[in-house]
Amino acid sequence: MGWDVGVIVGCVLLGLAGGAPPPAESPSLQRLHNPANICGQGNMWRGCSVRAHMSWDFTHRRTCGSCQKLIIDSSVFEVNLACVECELAVDVLQGELNAGVSYEAMVAEAILVCSGMAGLTETYCQGYIPLVAPIVYHVFTHKNVTARDFCGMLMASKGCTSDNPEREWSVDIHGEKPPVEPIILPEPDAPKLKVLHLSDTHLDPLYTPGSNAACPEQLCCREESGLAETEEDRAWYWGDYRNCGSPAWMLEDMLAHARNTHTDLDYVMWTGDVVPHNMWSTSREWNLRLVRETNALVRKWFPDVPVFPVVGNHEMSPLDQYSNPGDAPEELSADWLYEELAAQWAHLIPSFNDSTVLHAGYYSVLIKPGFRVISFNSMFGYGSNIWLVQTSNDPAGELAWLEDQLAKAEAAGELVHLLGHIPPGIIDVHRAWSREYNRIVVRYENVIRGQFFGHTHFDEFQVFHDGERPVGVAYVAPSQTPWYDLNPAYRVYHVDGDRPDTTRLVLDHETYFLNLTAAEASGEAHWERLYSARDAYGMAALTPADWQDLAERMAADRSLFDVYYKHYVSAGDPYMALGCDDLCYQQRLCDVVTSNRNDLDSCYEVLRKSQQARDRKD
Ligand SMILES: *[C@@H]1O[C@H](CO)[C@@H](O)[C@H](O)[C@H]1NC(C)=O
Ligand SMILES: *[C@@H]1O[C@H](CO)[C@@H](O)[C@H](O)[C@H]1NC(C)=O
Ligand SMILES: *[C@@H]1O[C@H](CO)[C@@H](O)[C@H](O)[C@H]1NC(C)=O
Ligand SMILES: [Zn+2]
Ligand SMILES: [Zn+2]
Repeated sequence: MGWDVGVIVGCVLLGLAGGAPPPAESPSLQRLHNPANICGQGNMWRGCSVRAHMSWDFTHRRTCGSCQKLIIDSSVFEVNLACVECELAVDVLQGELNAGVSYEAMVAEAILVCSGMAGLTETYCQGYIPLVAPIVYHVFTHKNVTARDFCGMLMASKGCTSDNPEREWSVDIHGEKPPVEPIILPEPDAPKLKVLHLSDTHLDPLYTPGSNAACPEQLCCREESGLAETEEDRAWYWGDYRNCGSPAWMLEDMLAHARNTHTDLDYVMWTGDVVPHNMWSTSREWNLRLVRETNALVRKWFPDVPVFPVVGNHEMSPLDQYSNPGDAPEELSADWLYEELAAQWAHLIPSFNDSTVLHAGYYSVLIKPGFRVISFNSMFGYGSNIWLVQTSNDPAGELAWLEDQLAKAEAAGELVHLLGHIPPGIIDVHRAWSREYNRIVVRYENVIRGQFFGHTHFDEFQVFHDGERPVGVAYVAPSQTPWYDLNPAYRVYHVDGDRPDTTRLVLDHETYFLNLTAAEASGEAHWERLYSARDAYGMAALTPADWQDLAERMAADRSLFDVYYKHYVSAGDPYMALGCDDLCYQQRLCDVVTSNRNDLDSCYEVLRKSQQARDRKD
């Protein structure tokens, strides 16, 4: 999970357009120009107001008065205004470029505009704008991009659309889908694999207990965060619910607990995000340090267990900016990162061939006869990646490669687990990428037996559909970092093991957590089991159909949903205190049945069922 670059770029552009006449004078436009009016001051630093005037906060995290709406009923009027203003701003910027305004002058102007906007601190703007400016500049000077196209790409999650036909593309898919193979689940005592899922560690080596946890930045709890003014502002020892990274000793304690509690792990899946949320001050050195240190930590506790890592959006500096190989000059490319990942991952992955990691951060490895793990770089579909404006048509040839890997796996009779960072159904994923990924999942239903993601920091899932049936499920693991308002957590899967006719499906999963409030009160970290999926949700098995059924049962039964919500937030006390209001409830229901951003049918359907259940009660 990260700060939304699309919003920041959008805001800077909105600010640049400040001199241009607004398209209409309306109450909502006035609010747009003064986002501070929308949410209470207390929420500014969460970026709430900035998101709010763009009309959506898909995560609906904080209660923010009336500023948050369900994504499917956001007002078209407001959305279009944001796009229109963005387009005006791009025109201004391109005009300045053509008029020969210097690069430095434009960056300085952008910093001013950025820090003038509510919700963005000076520290943030002064650090972040110079990091991404060269990319925006490169894209504008190397591609004839129109304002509509640029805003349609970078602000797609705000409802803006591009009119560039290039943005529509599809991957070639080998052959017709074979008949769906019936799933025959194993007997209870059949052999299983035990698999640990780590995600979003966000280690902060600068974490300092007692420092200011209530600073205005996206990352606090450091010496540099200023003095804690009150006892309450002081950063906790084991980690903090506020905007803070993970203390090394908390992560180490978690790894030790996982190691000692699960002595029989077969392998570890690790879905990325190792750098903390100091997005304004990342650098190659800093990010590489985090890659190395976190790798060493994981290797220390699991020296003899294979680990299958994934690249996250935070690994890159600047945040999220992964270019299509060949598009970026060396100083802006991600090659430095891929090189280090390839070197580090060689210590984690058995029989590792680093050639595709060096190309673009993805790989495929046969982990047992007939069983393959494919790890891909989900930032090639991520809306905050400015490079996608330059090339959006299957960057790095990744989906074509993935499809080809699956075709080969199918031919070889292999079963596959897919590992990624950003779940394909969230609103930040580009429509074409999300659709094509879903096409692949539908086509290779018989082959793909599990999908594993992170990034949102919440414990959730996404059911894939082919228009009629559920065909797959993605497990989105809870984060180890508490950033923010969450408890640190980790997940263990029980996977159909080595036997003839194994399905390689997840048969159950268990989640462990650290109650931060209790740890702070006692001074000691006690990791506890939070729940197991089958017990907590009364599931017969964990097939895609069972997960779809859970979504429908939650739509009809709010108390079952409350159980899910507790797990969704890793039982984090701030979220538990906040609860999940009707809007939050509806959004969560939609989230779990949406894997394709182009297809909200399942979302409407589950909301309809929920409404019917309420009507029956009334
Ligand atoms: C942009 O368009 C102009 C005029 O049509 C053309 O001369 C130029 O080569 C194009 N630049 C790029 C990078 O495509
Ligand atoms: C690694 O994979 C690449 C691309 O598939 C292949 O060309 C190369 O020979 C492989 N290297 C080894 C050592 O197997
Ligand atoms: C965490 O600890 C606090 C303080 O002891 C307690 O109030 C809360 O209920 C605990 N949460 C869980 C999920 O056990
Ligand atoms: Zn993260
Ligand atoms: Zn992330």
